[in-house]
Formats: sequence, structure tokens, C-alpha cells
Amino acid sequence: MGQHYKEIAAIALKRRADAIPKKYLLPESALTNLPLNLTTIPKSSGHFTPAELEIIEADAEEILLKIREKKWTSLAVTEAFCKASIVAQQLTNCLTEILFPEAIARAKSLDEHLEKTGQVVGPLHGLPISLKDCMITPPHPSSIGMACYANEATDEETVLVGVLARLGAVFYVKTNVPTAMMMMETVNVVWGETNGAYHCGTSCGGSSGGEGALLAMRGSPLGIGTDIGGSIRIPSAFNGLYGLKPSFGRFPVYGGKSGITGQDFIYANNGPMSRSLESLKLYCRAVLSTESSPWNLDPKCVPIPWREEVIQPKGRKLRFGIVFNHDGEIHVQPPIVRGLAMTKKALEAAGHEVFEWEPLNHPAMVDEMNRSFHTLGAAAILDLTLQNEEPVYGSMKNYEATYQKGEHGTLGPTKLREMIIKRNAYQKAYLDAWNATAKDGKGVMDGIIIAASPWTAPRLGLTQEIFCVNYTGAFNILDYPVCTFPVTFADKSLDLPRKDWTPLNELDGKIQADYDPEFYHGTPVTLQCVGRRLEDEKVLEMTCAIAEALKAHS
Ligand SMILES: *[C@@H]1O[C@H](CO)[C@@H](O)[C@H](O)[C@H]1NC(C)=O
Ligand SMILES: *[C@@H]1O[C@H](CO)[C@@H](O)[C@H](O)[C@H]1NC(C)=O
Ligand SMILES: *[C@@H]1O[C@H](CO)[C@@H](O)[C@H](O)[C@H]1NC(C)=O
Ligand SMILES: *[C@@H]1O[C@H](CO)[C@@H](O)[C@H](O)[C@H]1NC(C)=O
Repeated sequence: MGQHYKEIAAIALKRRADAIPKKYLLPESALTNLPLNLTTIPKSSGHFTPAELEIIEADAEEILLKIREKKWTSLAVTEAFCKASIVAQQLTNCLTEILFPEAIARAKSLDEHLEKTGQVVGPLHGLPISLKDCMITPPHPSSIGMACYANEATDEETVLVGVLARLGAVFYVKTNVPTAMMMMETVNVVWGETNGAYHCGTSCGGSSGGEGALLAMRGSPLGIGTDIGGSIRIPSAFNGLYGLKPSFGRFPVYGGKSGITGQDFIYANNGPMSRSLESLKLYCRAVLSTESSPWNLDPKCVPIPWREEVIQPKGRKLRFGIVFNHDGEIHVQPPIVRGLAMTKKALEAAGHEVFEWEPLNHPAMVDEMNRSFHTLGAAAILDLTLQNEEPVYGSMKNYEATYQKGEHGTLGPTKLREMIIKRNAYQKAYLDAWNATAKDGKGVMDGIIIAASPWTAPRLGLTQEIFCVNYTGAFNILDYPVCTFPVTFADKSLDLPRKDWTPLNELDGKIQADYDPEFYHGTPVTLQCVGRRLEDEKVLEMTCAIAEALKAHS
């Protein structure tokens, strides 16, 4: 047995507490009688100067421009986000490692460089970027929510971290994740639980949940998440953000810490999350530039620089398939139904076509994913958590059961080959179905619009009993690029519980029974826009068309 997880956690928590400059903290008196909607606090608290507020409300594009034009320094920008991240930490518990001294030193040196040479070091010069805990920034620990790693120094930088640093980014915080990054809410025995930003009684999602809460709280202009079953998109959805899960091979993934090391059945990806869609674009453009050439650093990266204006002719009308109501297994809650209807109406008003899309094999694909997580992940995770006597969370009980039955040990090459054959067949079937949408002289469907989750943002703790990553997971099996987009917020006067409907199964019934208009009022309604494999640029352009249509229609 190793050290008990509680002793490990105490050391990590002290390190985090000691790294917080007292001047950034909201006073204790400001932490009582909190509103449910925590995102209003930075503005309403009086804790930030007007100049700081202007910075933390700005998007990455504006920040980079102002730094380049020497209207803002990277130092002032970095300090404002350091402060805002601490306020976010106080209200949502979203941070793990705090890197302020090196961030401040880095910002100063970037300012000096610009002053001396008149040149920026790269397209991200001076921009604070927050990192999910699995991104390795030596020598800081990368716990990924597990006691065994929580106080362990690291030495090999994640490839993406190096790329971003060379482009000019400033790293100042790392953000919380669930144990092994394998739950859909963010809680672990080291750092505790992170709550949602728009409703403090809801989950921030997972596994990039700390990022989700931090970004919505204005504690970061741009964050990096990772996604194997929905881990960028679920927290983006629960916190009303844009988040891109790319196709595998576009962005460098080498050297990130993984919950299930070595499995390649479902590819793990990383991608940007932000309150602004333009910020995602500028990130993609910068990371996939010839200047950074990540394909020379990661053998899995395809040498395709980011392409501009791939939808041709420019501004042409798009054809969207939409999944309404349910995916064959789970109905979405009423605010999501309204969000889907709003999006359809807005797109049609802008001249685009929206037709109903049958979610082909979604339940079967997610079932395959579910089993693969347990068979491939049971030993990878439990061998580590058991060392430090970590308890097993509700939604991870299947890992424990698989481990205890010894099923992970009997997986073997034959079963793995069978899994891969099935996965490949699902990918082929989806490709054929997509391709077959070309009809009546019209080209193939451009994209799919579908919920990111049956919930807007579930109550804290609920997903330990009712686990459902079905809406995101199907696209991990397919390896399709997906971007989330915020539509509106749940409204108790508009989003009434379903009546006269038949649950498809027990869990489906439980999810609708959980819906309470009063409780969920104000939680974000966020959907996914899906493209075909390696059409990452098109996905962002389609998301842009959707956002414009929604804006014009509101
Ligand atoms: C998910 O996988 C576990 C074991 O791997 C299994 O016990 C459980 O029934 C599966 N869930 C579904 C809905 O298939
Ligand atoms: C796929 O779509 C293209 C373009 O519409 C069409 O020419 C082709 O026949 C289709 N192939 C299959 C296998 O459906
Ligand atoms: C998918 O939905 C089914 C519906 O009943 C549920 O039992 C299962 O846990 C879900 N799978 C995942 C991986 O979320
Ligand atoms: C929560 O605050 C945001 C501003 O951060 C605002 O846009 C939103 O309308 C608020 N939600 C509710 C329910 O008041």
C-alpha cells in the first residue's frame, strides 16, 4: 500500500492554497448569500477595476490585438486573468496547479521582447491560456484526479504545450478533472468537486470540467480540453461554451497524460474551449500553421495546415440533418428540445435546409464504447487508485466490477480484434448513410445538429447514478469533428415537463423525471454541430453560420 490518499490530498491542497496571492481573493463576506448564477459575480462584486473587467470580458482576438498594438501589456492581461481565476476557484473549485510566478515572469519577458524588437514572438503572443490538468508543464504535477500522481514532479512536456509556448502563450493555471478523466462530472479525492458556473447547484461536466467552469467565470479567454467520450463537449455544453473536438490526427496529442494509457480503440483528442467562436478559430489557425508544423513533432499528426473558407462557394446555403427528441435510447430534456427548434427555425430563416436525421446505430456504438472503457480501463485505473485506497465513485462502479471479475485480464487479442472490426463496420455504415443524403440534385448533407447531452447541466452528483455520455460518445467512435454552440438558457415559463410520452427504457424515464423547470431555470442550452472526418475547418465554419443565424433570428 502506498500513502493514504487523504495524506496525499492534504499536501496537494496546501500547495494550491499557498500559491494563491491573498490580494486576489474575494473577501469572506462576499462569499455568503451567493446567487445561483455565479457568472455575474466578477462584474457585480466590485472586486475588479474597470480596466480588469474590460480585459476579462474580452475575447482572445481582442486581447492579442491590444497587446500587439501596445494598448495592453501581457503583464496586465495575465494579472487580470490570474485574479479572475482565483475568484473562479473560490466559487467553483476549478483549479489544480497554480503557476502565477512563472506566468508573470513570462508575460514580462514577452512585453520586453515586443518593446525591444517591435515584433511579437508568434500569433499567440502574450495570451493567457488555461490548461486541463493532463497537459504536462514540467516540473508541476499532473494528477489527472488521482492520488498516485498528485504530488509527483513531471519532466517531459506535452508536445502541444511546447507548441503553444513557442506561439507566445502564457500558462498560468491548470484545471480540475474527475478521477482518471473518466466521469462526466468533475470530482476526485485530491481536489474535490467542481460546480457549474451558471448554476452553482449543477455539475460543470467532465472531464474538462475545471476548464468549463473557469471559462464561463471569465477566468480564462481560451482553454485546452481533451475528449475521448465527450470530455470537451459535455463541460462546454454545461457551461454555455464553444468547444471543438477535432478529428484525430489534426492536433498533436503526444505526451499528454492519459486515464487509460495505451488504448487506441477510441482516440483521445485535445481541442480548444472558449466563450468566443473566433477564439477557437485563431487557436486552430495558429497551432496548425506552417510556422508551428506540429506534424514534425507528433508522428500521429497529418501535415494539413488549417484551411480557410472551405465552404464554397462562400456563403452558400447549407444542408443540415437534425436529431430531435431522442437518439434511439434517451430523450433530451425540454429546454434542449426548445434549443433544437430555435436552431432549426433560425437556420431556415437564413435560407439553410434542415431535415430530420436518423441517428444510425448510435445506441449500439455507445454500447461498444461503454464496454471498451471498462475492459480497457479497469486495470489501467484501479491498479493505480487502489494503491492509495481511493474509494470508487458511483459512475465508476463498472470499472471496479470488471476488475474484480478479472474480465480485463481475459480481454485478449481476439476480443480486441472483434471490437475493432465492429467499430470499423459502424464507421463504414455511417459514411454510407451520410453519402446517401445526396438527393434531387442537392449535394450531401453538410453537417448534423444534435444535443450534447440530455441535460442542460444536471444537478451535482446525479450522474454518479445516471450516467449518459451517449450524445457525444457516438462521434468518438466515428472520429468525427464536432463543435458545441450555445443557443439559450433554460426558462421555467417556456420549458415545461414532457407530457404524454413513453420512455424508451428505465434510464430514459429517470432522466425526464429529473427535469424540474424551477431548478433548471437559467442553465445553458448548448448543442453540437458535427462534420465528416477531417472536416474540422468546415465544422467551425458551419458553427459560425449557425451562430449568425441564431443571432439574426433572436
Ligand atoms: C456498460 O458496461 C458494463 C461492463 O463493461 C456493463 O455491466 C453495463 O451493463 C454496460 N452498460 C450498458 C448500458 O450497456
Ligand atoms: C456517394 O456520393 C457521391 C456524390 O453524391 C456519389 O457520386 C456516389 O455514388 C455515392 N457513393 C455511394 C457508395 O453511395
Ligand atoms: C447510454 O444510454 C443507455 C440508455 O439506457 C445507458 O444505460 C448507458 O449507460 C449510456 N451509456 C453511456 C456510455 O453513457
Ligand atoms: C447569468 O449571468 C449571465 C451573465 O454572465 C447572463 O447572461 C444570464 O442571463 C444570467 N442568467 C440568469 C438566469 O439570470
